[in-house]
Amino acid sequence: MEKNLILGIESSCDDSSIALIDIKTYNCVEYLKISQEKEHCEFGGVVPELAARLHTAALPKLLEKIKQHFDNIAAIAVTNMPGLSVSLVGGVSMAKALSVSLNIPLIEINHLLGHIYSLFLDCEAKFPLGVLLVSGGHTMVLDIDKDKNIKIVAKTGDDSFGESFDKVAKMMNLGYPGGTVIENLAKNGTNKYNFTIPLLHDKRVEYSFSGLKNQVRLAIEECWDLSQTDKENIAFSFQKAAISHIMDKLSKIYEVKKWKNFGVVGGASANLVLRQNLEKLCSKFSANLLTAPLKYCSDNALMIARVGVEKYKMGKFISYQNLEIKPKIDKLCL
Ligand code: KG4
Ligand code: ZN
Repeated sequence: MEKNLILGIESSCDDSSIALIDIKTYNCVEYLKISQEKEHCEFGGVVPELAARLHTAALPKLLEKIKQHFDNIAAIAVTNMPGLSVSLVGGVSMAKALSVSLNIPLIEINHLLGHIYSLFLDCEAKFPLGVLLVSGGHTMVLDIDKDKNIKIVAKTGDDSFGESFDKVAKMMNLGYPGGTVIENLAKNGTNKYNFTIPLLHDKRVEYSFSGLKNQVRLAIEECWDLSQTDKENIAFSFQKAAISHIMDKLSKIYEVKKWKNFGVVGGASANLVLRQNLEKLCSKFSANLLTAPLKYCSDNALMIARVGVEKYKMGKFISYQNLEIKPKIDKLCL
């Protein structure tokens, strides 16, 4: 019988996840994830050593649950870039061990491509496409042409969009990750602080969130006893400035690129206020806004398996000896 599944493995940060996807139909056969959010929460961010230890415990447990499918796995797709090295090594080691013991080929996967393909989990991918990638580690605007060549049009020079939510939450002792907490608090807030939008009158098409984070820090320091209302107003004012910054630069890029299809991906693409702003921008240019299902915005192995299908069809395998972890990347390609 022809093997029909790709196994995806993801462990680039604080989520251990595996998934099985059908090569022909893109049907998700299994999807499992153990998130470490609870364990990192008290530290206000990801603690690398703890993440590594938790991946080592979680990944074999997940694998155990899908072993009835081992005979049908045609290839193993594993995230090996970019990410925390001590986290990446967990998934890559397991992929290598499995590849050798079951004699299954390996495919290396760029985590960021995974996020892009979260737009096409159960269907053919369609390009050309403009993409806003907003996660805990990255903030980028990407231009993907019809041949799937990817150009980075804008990126952040310091913190990422998601990371700035995490840092603002940490400053108010709201735990980790901060995205959803801040978005929820903002629902009851007002723009009391009217923070300055970063790089508003600057011609550079790039992002920066560290100055905004400092504005928030100063505002917090001025409220010597931070009330619930203060937190709500700070969350509202911060989120408004951060999203205005994203939209200000993106609108300028859009005037030139005029994409007919535009996607938003990454953990922070779950932010509904951001999505509403993007809807408006896309409708102004009569473009379609593509989003991933909320469940698959944050890190997951299904998106990794989905890129795996793409590379499997292109015959892009990598040998056991050549599969390395690459914590940083300088270019993005399939
Ligand atoms: O893609 P992801 O799961 O992990 C990385 O690859 O980094 O993204 C996680 C990030 C965290 O920084 C989290 O705070 C942020 O996404 N995030 C949000 C929201 N939900 C998650 N940021 C803003 N608003 C949200 N609703
Ligand atoms: Zn991610």
